[in-house]
Amino acid sequence: MEWWKKSVVYQIYVKSFQDSNNDGIGDLQGIVSRLDYLEKLGVDVLWLTPIYKSPNDDNGYDISDYYQIQPEFGTMEDFEELLEKAHEKQIKIILDVVFNHTSDEHHWFKESQSSKDNPYRDYYIWKEPKEGDVPNNWTSCFQGSAWEFDANTKEYYLHLFSKKQPDLNWQNPKVRQECYDIMNYWVDKGVDGFRLDVINVISKDESQYYVDSSIKGHKVCANGPHVHEYIQEMNQKVFSRKELLTVGETPAVTIEDGKKYAPLDNSELSMIFQFELMDVDGGETNKWSDQRFILKDLKQIMSRWQEGMYQKAWNSLFWNNHDQPRCVSRFGDTSTALYHEKSAKMLAICLHMMQGTPYIYQGEELGMTNVPFKSLNDYRDIETYNSYKQLVEIEKKVAHEDMLRYMLKSSRDHARTPMQWNKGKNAGFSNQTPWIMVNPNYLTINAEDEINNSNSIFYTYQKLIQLRKTYEIIILGKYELIMKDDENIFAYKRLYKDEEMIVYCNFSNQEVGYDPSILNDEKILIKNYEKHQKGILKPYESIVFYQKSRA
Ligand code: NOJ
Repeated sequence: MEWWKKSVVYQIYVKSFQDSNNDGIGDLQGIVSRLDYLEKLGVDVLWLTPIYKSPNDDNGYDISDYYQIQPEFGTMEDFEELLEKAHEKQIKIILDVVFNHTSDEHHWFKESQSSKDNPYRDYYIWKEPKEGDVPNNWTSCFQGSAWEFDANTKEYYLHLFSKKQPDLNWQNPKVRQECYDIMNYWVDKGVDGFRLDVINVISKDESQYYVDSSIKGHKVCANGPHVHEYIQEMNQKVFSRKELLTVGETPAVTIEDGKKYAPLDNSELSMIFQFELMDVDGGETNKWSDQRFILKDLKQIMSRWQEGMYQKAWNSLFWNNHDQPRCVSRFGDTSTALYHEKSAKMLAICLHMMQGTPYIYQGEELGMTNVPFKSLNDYRDIETYNSYKQLVEIEKKVAHEDMLRYMLKSSRDHARTPMQWNKGKNAGFSNQTPWIMVNPNYLTINAEDEINNSNSIFYTYQKLIQLRKTYEIIILGKYELIMKDDENIFAYKRLYKDEEMIVYCNFSNQEVGYDPSILNDEKILIKNYEKHQKGILKPYESIVFYQKSRA
């Protein structure tokens, strides 16, 4: 079996993990200094958010040089040291590569913009105006038109994200080769794989450039006409050289798409990272709402993916990442210290007992929560700012107070505040004021306390990682939803050879019952309350039974 099917990935948002040189910004040496911690947790792979040179319009997702390390993160020597020291601990490293777009400060774009006959012109997507205006009405993911006019050459370039993130033209074989060369450079350095940013939007449908659409640009461009050809080519030119973990970030995909992107024959990607679940609590203005999810919807989405991908393709498992709010605030309960702890553990158990490769987002293993940002000034994220401007000031669709409330629920910045290491200054992240505020709850939620408490959330994650290494049923078992219509309990079975696992998760703050008669000679693999009373689940209780012979 491929190593990445048995692995657990830990995502590091480099800017906020650990600062080693006291400039208020996390860096590579900071990660080196925390490798013992990661080893103790037991994770197999680290996913580093982009570490390349970037003007930081979108925190590194706007790359100006793929061959250089962002100076505020350190040097190439620092990266090599990190890779070597991680490998000594059997921890692998995957890099985040952004190939749908570059920074407008990348030399390819500067050349491209300089004149219509520059050899790099065709590296990007340039279109003539339509009747003196934008070619079509596509909007960027970060609000406003997806087209930016260039006064020098009098054409528009496409940017599905910010205007400082021009889209590359994947139709151009030279662009494709540049991207493969970049990946091969890092593979030669010894990296173990890649996370490919919005990789399913790279192939645009030429026929749509002058056609209006009712949905956002990146959704129109998702799963375009040549995307599988390109990913197969990438696979042949890069992935097939070594057994790499390749995870494609793929917004707006169906299960049918998923089967094509991450088939078991490894002809494209190892796995996809898809977001259907992340829309479960969206409102009229998408993520900007204060709606809470409905458990039945959540169960339905997760179960459909578990069943649909089984023995066909491979999926990632996650509750949050650097683009999402904190999962314990969103799907758990932070209203009391007890519920915080129980619900954080329950969510971990619920996810880690499913099929797929689990991703832990930094601080999730401590139960880090959303942040009580007070005003607009506390935020740093371009998406949050632009959405505020668009919805409150331009469209006047949402009132200022409402938007602040929505931001408190959904902003990407909740995930991006410094890792909470201890009760010291700035939570032990840096001696200098960090680039974004520290969540004031670091005095009660921090790694040092978690490690000193044998009953902590941290140890639940540690145990879940160990269980995945011990029980093959967790990796390969067939998934079966039970208690489908229950509004409080998420319960499912995993079936493998003659073994069976039953997972119960109470998503409510009420005591609820289940039918214990399906258990015969069970043992308990993991639970989040000291004592379990058969047939009853206390608030946010979760328990996993395992039985050798099926009932
Ligand atoms: C997805 C990344 O996860 C996100 O942080 C970024 O803003 C966009 N892609 C654009 O690169």
